[in-house]
Amino acid sequence: MPDREHEKKLAAAASLEHIESGMTIGLGTGSTAEYLIPLLGRRIGRGLKVRAVPTSRRTAELAQECGIPLNTLQECPRLDLTVDGADEVDGRLQLIKGGGGALLREKIVASASRRMIVIVDASKLVRMLGAFPLPVEVVPFGWPVVKRRLEEIGAQASLRRSQPGEAFVSDEGNNILDCRFQSIPDPPRLASKIGPIAGVVEHGLFIDRCDLALVGRGDQVEKLARREQPPLALT
Ligand code: A5P
Repeated sequence: MPDREHEKKLAAAASLEHIESGMTIGLGTGSTAEYLIPLLGRRIGRGLKVRAVPTSRRTAELAQECGIPLNTLQECPRLDLTVDGADEVDGRLQLIKGGGGALLREKIVASASRRMIVIVDASKLVRMLGAFPLPVEVVPFGWPVVKRRLEEIGAQASLRRSQPGEAFVSDEGNNILDCRFQSIPDPPRLASKIGPIAGVVEHGLFIDRCDLALVGRGDQVEKLARREQPPLALT
């Protein structure tokens, strides 16, 4: 049986190589990012100079406990690098994120970053996105309408609960609809259908955002870099 926690730790540790003094970094959310935060805190204790923008309250709390200097996007609107986990990663480094409910802040922080690295265990690598339900963050007032619209485009959507009878509320005060599509053969096309639905705040498809995936597999870390797509051949 692969030890997924070990693989997450290895991937998290490998990302430290990419963090240099003077950088402003986006700090991701989730169990893999939580392996990175104490390691980064230790490096800072030994003299590494970085500032970080956290992608969730949970990450902010942990980072503070680990002695990582935190900033807001107002103070640091441009970041050098974001390091974050993911729920699924395909061969083009398209991602599904949001299993932990932090996709909105994660996407904003990633979009403010020059580079993005994802750190994952090998179970997250997939040939095609979609086995993991796609999280869609919605305005609480509108979720029943958004749910219907998402079902019209083929999703089986369910409102995420924090406990029975209580809707999950994100750090930005929104709800999340988890959407099963079976498979997502064309993520940009699906993104273009979900984005304009009134009441959708953001969705968990990260397209053309991630530059490098560090994948823990066994005792190794595989590196997958994003390849620019070759230009279409002219006929
Ligand atoms: C948080 O909202 C998510 O996007 C996480 O980054 C993602 O779910 C990966 O989490 P784990 O590292 O816990 O698998």
